[in-house]
Amino acid sequence: MQIKAASSHVDDRPQDQVFRVHSDVFTDPALFEDEQRFIFDRTWNFLGLDSQIGKPNDFVTTTIGRTPVVLMRDATGAINAFVNACRHKGAMVCRAEQGNSKYHVCPYHGWAYDSAGKNSGIKDQEAGRYAPAFDLDSHDLIRLPRIEQYKGLIFGSLNPDVIPLEQFLGELRPLLDLAMDQGPHGMEFVPGRAVYTYDANWKLQMDNGMDYYHLTSTHASFMEVVERREAAQAGNQEARQFNWKKRLSQQGGMFTFPHGHAAIWLDQAQPEKRPIYPAFEEIRNRLGEVRAQWMLKLRNITIFPNLQIADSTALILRTFRPLAANRTEMRVYCMAPIGEAAELRAWRLRQFEDFFNASGFATPDDTATFEACQAGYQAAPLGYLQGYARGIASVQPGANEEAAALGFTPVGSLKDGFQLQNEACFHSGYREWARLMSAGAAGQPAYGSHETAAAPE
Ligand code: FES
Ligand code: FE
Repeated sequence: MQIKAASSHVDDRPQDQVFRVHSDVFTDPALFEDEQRFIFDRTWNFLGLDSQIGKPNDFVTTTIGRTPVVLMRDATGAINAFVNACRHKGAMVCRAEQGNSKYHVCPYHGWAYDSAGKNSGIKDQEAGRYAPAFDLDSHDLIRLPRIEQYKGLIFGSLNPDVIPLEQFLGELRPLLDLAMDQGPHGMEFVPGRAVYTYDANWKLQMDNGMDYYHLTSTHASFMEVVERREAAQAGNQEARQFNWKKRLSQQGGMFTFPHGHAAIWLDQAQPEKRPIYPAFEEIRNRLGEVRAQWMLKLRNITIFPNLQIADSTALILRTFRPLAANRTEMRVYCMAPIGEAAELRAWRLRQFEDFFNASGFATPDDTATFEACQAGYQAAPLGYLQGYARGIASVQPGANEEAAALGFTPVGSLKDGFQLQNEACFHSGYREWARLMSAGAAGQPAYGSHETAAAPE
């Protein structure tokens, strides 16, 4: 098969107001391999929340692309991240998802590492007749070259030359703050998570997490159920879910950012249905009126390539891990203010279960839809997809009034009625995808002088 240059998979012609993505980006195994090397191995990747490893010797395991990673707080309280592969023969050392341990002993031949990644014992070393050359090698776990955090979100990179995290997040930060500043003592994951796989490409989740257009069709049954609950005062009243149909007359919009990030937002018709509503006074006193009001709006953000924070029917953080061109693992956490009152926490959990949990109303509908798309992409005549065009004529370069009020400058802004259900929010992700894939194929660094600081709108 003839492999096209990455840039030709994304037909991006701002001057003609054309943006199309070729269906091969979701199916081609060669592109999938390149994505691992040129995107996941070279960008920042979310590793975990600082509050997940609150105590010395706490750890969580995760991945960067295909690389298993263990994020640990050592005995002195310092946070480190390591490749979770034994220096002996490469077995994954730490196999639990999270826990607390001073030492990690590889189950294969018993090499041991402490919580600072240092090799603390090679089983039967004295009897091993090792040559002096062996002692010259480090036997410690391989440290990730870069690890940084922003407001409790810990990111790591396999790329020593990745730009600083704050620069990577850039102007998106005020929107990220609207999720991470909700609690006066920071944010945590509610214990537990949903992990599931779907048989389709990871970028389907990247798009769908920002896709208002599918709500009234894919999730029509959920919208009807919530209306019936309201009318009949029956069903899952504990979720106190807002009536989505009341949103349809609301104003909403989107912002795009450099490095592939984007955000969508929608005014909230029923702010009293948000579990942070009872804390509104505290939030307003702490952060001011503008930001407090923005916390009540619905906001979804994508931090390229595979982190999304959605604050709609619940506040969730999700990552999507590419397993193959046609297989993805999802990991979804319910996020909450640290120290939240028990009754608010219960309400939050009921909302999370209702929609975003693997058994909720959203997930089965969305994953079935992703798999239907993946089946459709097998159709050779399909070619370029038209699902990136809604709203393209309404995008304005730079900051609109909303961005200015929050004090940031995006690449592009858009505001309109909900019915617009824009698809322009997808552009930044594919622009960055094409940029990183082209840079990788050309042997250029991922970030450097050739990097376009702001893609055109
Ligand atoms: Fe870990 Fe052998 S692979 S001890
Ligand atoms: Fe959905």
